[in-house]
Amino acid sequence: MSAVNRGFALTWLGHHTFKLVTRGARTVLMDPWVESNPACPKELKSFDKIDVITISHGHNDHLGDAVMLAKKFKPVLVCNLEISLFLDRKGVANTLSMNKGGTAEVAGLRFTMVHAVHSSGIEDGGQVFYGGEAAGFVITLEDGTRIYHAGDTAVHSDMALIGELYPPDIALLPIGDHYTMSPREAAVAARMLKPRWIVPAHYGTSPVFTGTPEMLREELKKLNVTSEVVALRPGETLS
Ligand code: NI
Ligand code: MN
Repeated sequence: MSAVNRGFALTWLGHHTFKLVTRGARTVLMDPWVESNPACPKELKSFDKIDVITISHGHNDHLGDAVMLAKKFKPVLVCNLEISLFLDRKGVANTLSMNKGGTAEVAGLRFTMVHAVHSSGIEDGGQVFYGGEAAGFVITLEDGTRIYHAGDTAVHSDMALIGELYPPDIALLPIGDHYTMSPREAAVAARMLKPRWIVPAHYGTSPVFTGTPEMLREELKKLNVTSEVVALRPGETLS
């Protein structure tokens, strides 16, 4: 796989959490659910540095350890306005709030916030706070490689626009079903996005998640979609 030649390392920490180290040695953590993530290998719960954290929406399995990691590593936190206001109240500095359709450059990388169909309430101390709308991100690396982190989402027809405007090389797609797309919906998503590789996520962490990478391969075959499914194990790096 040419990811090695492209000079970046993308590691799945389980569920929807990914760590990306770019050619320019930037470390990006997507949806930082680490400490209580049952799938995250212990040795990957510590970091040397984190330059950027992206947060797709306000649910605990995505917002996760953002506050703790932000205070420890002082990354830029890229998220929507409502989550950035919540983080401000928690004493987190360096939030970069944005909204769908926009692109922001951080640490030499480009972050485009794109549509997702999901909810985004933030549960804190027994109350639920408004977390804006759920989103996904297209991250454009130093060499132009694009990684689409879909966040939690149903399949939606705006994925055709994401495929047209920011054609992803790699799509990190939820497949677990119940709270997100199942493999059947993810295959239709892939038909619109046309990524070269799909890394399945948001499965294997709860009995309610029934989707598997093998089911996704079968659904893609039915639709004649040629994207390659790269099923990482938690802790494994795409390389
Ligand atoms: Ni969610
Ligand atoms: Mn989730």
